[in-house]
Amino acid sequence: MPGTPASFFIWEHKGNIYTTFYRTFIIYKDCMSKIAEDILSSVDIIDIVGKYVPLKRAGANFTGNCPFHNEKTPSFMVSPTKQIFKCFWCGKGGNVITFMQEIERIDFRDAAKELAKHANIDLTKYQIDPKKHDDRQDEKEKIKRIHKIAQKFFVEQLAKHPEAKIYLHEKRKLSDQTINDFGIGYAPNSHYELIQELKSKWFSDKDLIEASLAKRSQTWGDIYWFFRHRITFPIYDTMNNIVGFSARVIDPNDKPKYLNSAEHKAFQKSQLLYGLNRAKNDIKEHNALFIVEGQMDVVGLARIGYRLGVATCGTALTPEHLKLIKRYTENIFLLFDSDEAGQEANLRALTLAYQNNVFPKIIKLPEGFKDVDELANTADGKEKFDEQREKSQDGFSVIFQNLKKKFDITSPIDKQKILNILFWLIMNIENNAMQDHYLQILWENLGIRENIMEAQYRQFAKSWGKFILQQIARKTEGKKYEIDKELFVAALFYQDFIKQFIENQERWISLLELVKKIITTLPESSIAQAANEEADNKEIVELQLGRDKELHDYKDEEKKYQMIKQIIMPILQKYIQRITKDTKNSSDLKQEILNFMKKI
Ligand code: UTP
Ligand code: MN
Repeated sequence: MPGTPASFFIWEHKGNIYTTFYRTFIIYKDCMSKIAEDILSSVDIIDIVGKYVPLKRAGANFTGNCPFHNEKTPSFMVSPTKQIFKCFWCGKGGNVITFMQEIERIDFRDAAKELAKHANIDLTKYQIDPKKHDDRQDEKEKIKRIHKIAQKFFVEQLAKHPEAKIYLHEKRKLSDQTINDFGIGYAPNSHYELIQELKSKWFSDKDLIEASLAKRSQTWGDIYWFFRHRITFPIYDTMNNIVGFSARVIDPNDKPKYLNSAEHKAFQKSQLLYGLNRAKNDIKEHNALFIVEGQMDVVGLARIGYRLGVATCGTALTPEHLKLIKRYTENIFLLFDSDEAGQEANLRALTLAYQNNVFPKIIKLPEGFKDVDELANTADGKEKFDEQREKSQDGFSVIFQNLKKKFDITSPIDKQKILNILFWLIMNIENNAMQDHYLQILWENLGIRENIMEAQYRQFAKSWGKFILQQIARKTEGKKYEIDKELFVAALFYQDFIKQFIENQERWISLLELVKKIITTLPESSIAQAANEEADNKEIVELQLGRDKELHDYKDEEKKYQMIKQIIMPILQKYIQRITKDTKNSSDLKQEILNFMKKI
């Protein structure tokens, strides 16, 4: 260009480099803050700091000797609720990532890597790819905005539909204050106004489907709303954003009783507890938390004066839930329904708690009451509840008492059945002294000699390992572990188990070997990736984690298997494509998988 000074070109050129560099830097920075955010929300600072510093509980916090300078009296404090550490002598402080950086003298990246390993976060999913990353953030925000609008609509509709109000007032005995407190609303049959409003705000059909609020009709191709003629309960994340709904029928003929949003980018059921956002301050203040079965029980507890209740969102309790709870308190009370399913829930919750080194108490409901909600509906519900709360006992003892009622302890066979259930529970406790404490309760109460019982317990633990081994891989054939249907189902359903074994290396060294083999033959991540690609197959996510209530209730094994097969088939196909296309995989492995396909 004549007349343009050469330096201008240089400047412009530099400017471009700078812009490119700057853009990359911003993307990089966003990506890093996403990693940080995910780490901070899934790692418990107590777990990490506890590895370096012996910590003692002091009220709501933990204290210990500061690892950054020499001291004999502790000035180092860690807060499980705030997830920070602070030394009041040397002044060092920060979050779990800064702690890791300081203690290991590493930079942010390495600290993040280390912590991601601990939390099982796959760092490869944070590609520094501008488009992908921005989309993901945007989508979450979009989903939250849609939920906010939907919530407003449902609340307005409640005022316009007397039948819904009557149901809440008369059938459920809820006051307007309680209804407002929990943001309870009503989803009518027609969502015309809501759709108009969302459309006017430029949300597309696809957005609504992705937010799991609408589905596409197979016959007509248009979308229809998921929640119709139902009472709605908004589900909040801990940052107080609405990310999902649980909706209950008004007409008892409608099925299912509760319909819950499916998981999506901003709603992970395994990491979210209904009621936690509003209860968390009270939980901290009173240092206690009640785990109940359903939304109405959380509401019921609040009605009798306890804003300390949380419930899962239609799934079973997970290790992630337990870790989340532990940040607020270790003083946990289980308050499940009085039926058989409630007893199973108690056992499962205790197992998870023991794995996480917490020992919940169980509150029994007074005779004749199914759940807390029912109790809250009676005039003296609060008094009755308080009485039971004062009588609450260590979970293990309650389970033991129930088993003693269910079985005949004068029969040696029944005695054995009790032992099998309780040995299993005890096996999940890491601390030997605690294990011993519970074993002692057993031999004292069942009239078995201590050394005999001890030997039997060791034997049980050993053979239990063998049992799982058989479950996971039926045919070992000396050299190779063949993938068969049990293995697949096991890989989908027993991830928690597998993870647990990997963490407990010393106790399960032999099992670990097997698990390693399974993971190399059948990479968990491949299944997960395939599952993610299967956008419509949200069920798989719940299935994978063994949290599907309906499936859990399936007693008929064959039906259960057929149902699983139906759901995992598309995933399987994808997995197989992946394995067979990948040139890195051996032909032996490919053959093995094809054989497996033929078999199922
Ligand atoms: P329950 O069947 O015990 O219902 O399910 P509930 O809490 O007593 O409900 P009400 O009092 O009849 O209204 C307990 C929880 O299991 C989940 C819901 O979260 C419910 O609160 N659930 C139940 C579902 O997700 N889907 C269902 O079809 C039923
Ligand atoms: Mn109920």
